[in-house]
Amino acid sequence: MSRPPCFVANWKMNMGLKASESHLSDLIKHCADVVLAPSKIIIAPPFTALQTVSNILNTAACEIDLAAQNVHFSPKGAYTGEISTEMLCEIGCKYVIIGHSERRILFSENDEEIHKKLVAVRKAGLFPILCIGETQQDRQAGKTWQRLQGQLNSVFSEEFIASGLCDTVSDWMIAYEPVWAIGTGETPEPADVAEVHQQIQALIADTVGKGVPRILYGGSVSEENIVDFMKTPDIDGVLVGGASLSPKTFFEIIAQGASAK
Ligand code: PGA
Repeated sequence: MSRPPCFVANWKMNMGLKASESHLSDLIKHCADVVLAPSKIIIAPPFTALQTVSNILNTAACEIDLAAQNVHFSPKGAYTGEISTEMLCEIGCKYVIIGHSERRILFSENDEEIHKKLVAVRKAGLFPILCIGETQQDRQAGKTWQRLQGQLNSVFSEEFIASGLCDTVSDWMIAYEPVWAIGTGETPEPADVAEVHQQIQALIADTVGKGVPRILYGGSVSEENIVDFMKTPDIDGVLVGGASLSPKTFFEIIAQGASAK
């Protein structure tokens, strides 16, 4: 499958309006100055910066898609502090990160809620960047695949598949992010990641049967390890947190990663 590799920047709760503007103008300048190997770039700023970032991306010299970091599953109503899919579409988002481990762990999001978000996102014509990952405890107990399988099966219910909302699955992203690797500087071996990615691909091919999404790796991706990850088959891209906060570093990750594919 020859899809350009994908590089997602998750800014998390960082970057106000001014910081977003200057970061993006730097990143766009780097991207416009250099002939990059084919690549897909996605930026997920905090909610308050979405409009500013969207305006800049609309006139940017290089193609970068906009993602939100979260969404509520209801179309509207009395949900103080929440944002709907319609609001995200209005602002120009194409993707939404769903099920990030920080949302699962720190904000107690469960598989049922994640499933509802996925349905809402697809009904709105947005595409999910669905995060799954095992904890250190799962890993030590030898239950990595059991955890990932559970997270995937709860999402790909028979009803959801029958609804036709998964027919676009090849345009989705699944980010395999071991919880123990996020923000820790510790990473799994690329070959182990590739094995997990193959299992994810096989499960989706078996259950959904409409093609496979890009499977990204996330967790302490850096300028130092990007080439090793990206030269490994079955790693279709990366989801980058901390290292995406510097435009120069994120650009290096894209440039080196894309040419390693
Ligand atoms: P990190 O975060 O790159 O800072 O480890 C990745 C993520 O949380 O998606």
